[in-house]
Amino acid sequence: MAEVRRRLIHHGALAALFALALFGASATGERAAQVPPDECTPGTTCGDMPSSAREYAAMCALELGVAPTVDCGAGVLLPITVDGVEVFEDPGLHECDKASLQIGDCMPGSSLQRYAGRNADGTPRDDVVWVSFCRHDGRDDVVGFDMPDSVQLIGYNYDTGATCFFESGDNRPWTHVDENNRLLGVLPGPDDPAFDQAYTVPGVQCVRCHQADPFNHNPWINSARLPEDPRQPVLPVLRGPDPPYYVVGAQDWDMRTIHIEGNGCLGCHRIGMETLAEYTGDHWDPNEHMPPHAPGSFAADYQELVECWENGPENTPGCDWVIPPAGDCDGGVVSADYPHAAARFNRGTGDEGPRSGAGWRRPGC
Ligand code: HEC
Ligand code: HEC
Repeated sequence: MAEVRRRLIHHGALAALFALALFGASATGERAAQVPPDECTPGTTCGDMPSSAREYAAMCALELGVAPTVDCGAGVLLPITVDGVEVFEDPGLHECDKASLQIGDCMPGSSLQRYAGRNADGTPRDDVVWVSFCRHDGRDDVVGFDMPDSVQLIGYNYDTGATCFFESGDNRPWTHVDENNRLLGVLPGPDDPAFDQAYTVPGVQCVRCHQADPFNHNPWINSARLPEDPRQPVLPVLRGPDPPYYVVGAQDWDMRTIHIEGNGCLGCHRIGMETLAEYTGDHWDPNEHMPPHAPGSFAADYQELVECWENGPENTPGCDWVIPPAGDCDGGVVSADYPHAAARFNRGTGDEGPRSGAGWRRPGC
């Protein structure tokens, strides 16, 4: 209850006061508005994503405090091993013990870092976490050209679900690779005008793959462990089956995942079927990993999800499109004409045609 009230007051003071006055929401714990999930817009900023990374960082600062200054050398190395022995040369795609689940990359020298949230005045933001990723890319053979190493940032607010994504596709002025194949370098921080050269706002919907929640877990990325507590991966694992999630300034991104009430796989987390397809394409079999304590024991639940994904929730009784709770929005089942259905994903595997939704209409804000 305290949690609900704090969120209401923090993020929708007017709506909350209105609700308290009218419905006594504090006594019942009911949320203020009865807005259908596909029409509710979360967040205090209603604007669209600006075109420059610095302006976007300023917009995100309201929800997430200050974006960190990334030092690739200060992050935790993702060790690459072959038969348990650490290697420092690229053994080739899928040739290591735990490959990246994007094309099976085994290139050594990528690193991950977690930062505690803070405001511009230095005060801590316990509700916020940032993660940076310096990816030393080894996929050139596949794409047929020298793919730049990428540096990426994700900021997340545990209470509201507010999330910001930043991409640094060309960071060569600030990065280099050392004799152990490690990607190193310090990138400009958000106060530095060069932040705009180093970073861009997302050019694609990152939620296409960062779909269940902001953080994509898999054996490779989980191999970076927190130095102060190696039981934990550097990448935060969010609690509960339905954590809040929305992307600041991206009201038109497709936030849907599929849901079947009572499905065992969804008892711990949402599942991005698009992400799962990316993983299974790189030989990650859910029944060998999930659920973590008893892999394979929910094979029937998994099969049920696959069938809904392939046939579409529209054609599958008991299976629905849902969106996460976000800010003051409850989330939940969305209608067939969800306004932000993406043109390029969330269309299942067996059907290339339009599935649902009216396309790209911008929400009223
Ligand atoms: C095609 C799918 C895909 C898209 C689109 C995508 N990512 Fe990722 N991303 C992944 C996968 C998979 C991982 C996990 C590491 C791996 O196995 O390669 C990942 C990992 C990351 C990480 C490390 C932390 C984590 O969550 O694992 C960051 C940071 C990141 N991506 C940022 C971005 C940003 C920013 C965008 C949008 C501009 C984006 N990604 C779009 C698939 C994608
Ligand atoms: C008991 C809780 C639990 C159950 C049940 C469970 N998982 Fe997970 N799952 C986790 C945890 C914890 C993680 C993240 C950490 C990790 O990768 O180990 C995770 C991660 C994942 C991921 C990584 C994708 C991402 O967005 O990070 C996928 C895919 C996944 N699970 C699929 C499944 C499927 C399919 C089932 C049913 C067969 C299932 N899970 C059942 C706990 C669970």
